[in-house]
Amino acid sequence: MNKVVVGAQWGDEGKAKITDLLAQDADLIIRYQGGCNAGHTVVVDNKTFKFHLIPSGILYGNKDCFIGAGTVILPEYFEEEVNGLIKDGIDVSRLKVSPLASITMPYHTEVDGFVESTATKGKIGTTKKGIGPTYTDKYARIGLKIQDLYSKETLSEKLDVILPIKNKTLEQVYGLKPYSKEQVLELCEKYAKIFEPYVCFEWQDLLEKSKDKTILFEGAQGVMLDVDYGTYPFVTSSNPIGGGAATGSGYGPKIIDEVVGVAKAYVTRVGEGPFVTELNDEIGNKIREIGYEYGVTTGRPRRCGWFDAVTMRYAVLVGGLTTIALTKVDVFDQFDEIKVCTAYKDTRNGKIYNSYPTDVYMHKYLEPVYESHQGWKSNITGIKNYNELPENCKKYLARLEELLGVPISIVSVGPDREQTIIK
Ligand code: IMP
Repeated sequence: MNKVVVGAQWGDEGKAKITDLLAQDADLIIRYQGGCNAGHTVVVDNKTFKFHLIPSGILYGNKDCFIGAGTVILPEYFEEEVNGLIKDGIDVSRLKVSPLASITMPYHTEVDGFVESTATKGKIGTTKKGIGPTYTDKYARIGLKIQDLYSKETLSEKLDVILPIKNKTLEQVYGLKPYSKEQVLELCEKYAKIFEPYVCFEWQDLLEKSKDKTILFEGAQGVMLDVDYGTYPFVTSSNPIGGGAATGSGYGPKIIDEVVGVAKAYVTRVGEGPFVTELNDEIGNKIREIGYEYGVTTGRPRRCGWFDAVTMRYAVLVGGLTTIALTKVDVFDQFDEIKVCTAYKDTRNGKIYNSYPTDVYMHKYLEPVYESHQGWKSNITGIKNYNELPENCKKYLARLEELLGVPISIVSVGPDREQTIIK
C-alpha cells in the first residue's frame, strides 16, 4: 500500500516519527516538497537524528530515498546533513536527488533574511532558509535546477538570462550586492561536486521499477502552511497537502492509496499568522514545557493551543487525509481537563463557523467554541495496546474521530519508535 505522510496542522506534528515507522514497510521513500525549512526529529535507541531534507527512512540503510522535483535544496545544508549521517555510520548509498529539484542560491537566503529582518508590516516569520525566494524564481522561470550544474552550456545560457534580472532586483529593490557570472559559476562548480554522488539522472527508471513496490511519500510542513490552502500569506511556498505528493514526486495521483495526516493532540505553530486556539497563558506554557515545543530548525519557542477540530476537518478535506496518526497524546498525562475546539464564534455578531473561514484577516474576531474532556491522570508512555489506554483517553480519541470523520489509526505516546500504538 502506497502512503503519503502529511502534516495536518502547522507542521512539527511528529511526521518524522510516523514516516520512520511506515518506512519499515516501504521500498522507496520520496520527499516531495519544501526544503531545509523542515526539521524532522527521529529517536532510535535513545539516539536523536535531526533531518531537514533527507528522508529519515535512510536510517534503515536498505531503502531507496529520493528527494523529488518539488523540493528546493540549499546545497551546503544538504552537504552538512549527508556528512552528519555518514559520521554517524549511516549508509547513504541509496540516497538519490532529482535533477529537477530547484537550487537555493545564496541570493535567495539573503533576500529571505533581508525581508524578514526589515519587514515592519506583514512579517511571515520564515525560517530564513530562502524557501520563498527559491520557489518565487522557480515559478518566475528564472530558477536553477540541479541538472543545470552538469551542463556548462545550459548553465551559461541560463545565467545570461537570470543574472541581469536578479542583480537588478538585488541592488535596486533590496540594496544587496549583485553577483557576477564568474562568482555564480564558481558556486555551481562547488554544488555540482556536492550533488554528484547523489543526483539521479535515471530517476525515471527508479520510479518505473518501484511502481509495483511499496512507496512512502514524505511531506514536510503541514496543510495549514500550504501555499494554496493554508493561512495565506502566513504559509510556506509549497504544497504540503496530499496532492503535492503527485506533483512533487513524479508519480501521478493514482499511485496513492492512503494519506496519513499527522496531528498533535494539541496545536503548535511557529512564525506569524492566525491561530484561533492559541493559549497565551499558563496552560500554553505547560504544553510547551511538557511537549518540549521548540523549533528544530530555528530553536524558536512554538506557540501552543488546544486541538482545533475546525482546521483539522478542513485539513482532512483539502489534504485528502484518509486516516490520522495522533502524536504527543502523553503530553496530557497530568492534565485535569483537556479542551477541544469544535467551532469558531465571531465576536462581532455571534455567528458560528463550523467550517474553516479562509479569510485569515478576520480571524482576530474569532474565538474558539470549546468542549471539555476529563484528563486520564496516568502515565501512558509505556502502553503498547490501544485497549490498555485509560478510558478517558480512549473517549477523547473516539470523540476526535467523530469530529474529523476519519479514523485515528496510530497513537504516539512518546518520542521513541517503540512508543507507538497501532489501532
Ligand atoms: P518558510 O517556509 O521558511 O518560508 O516559512 C514560512 C512559514 O512556514 C513560517 O511561519 C515558518 O515558521 C513555517 N514553517 C516552515 N517550515 C516549517 C516546519 O518544518 N515546521 C513548522 N513550521 C514551518
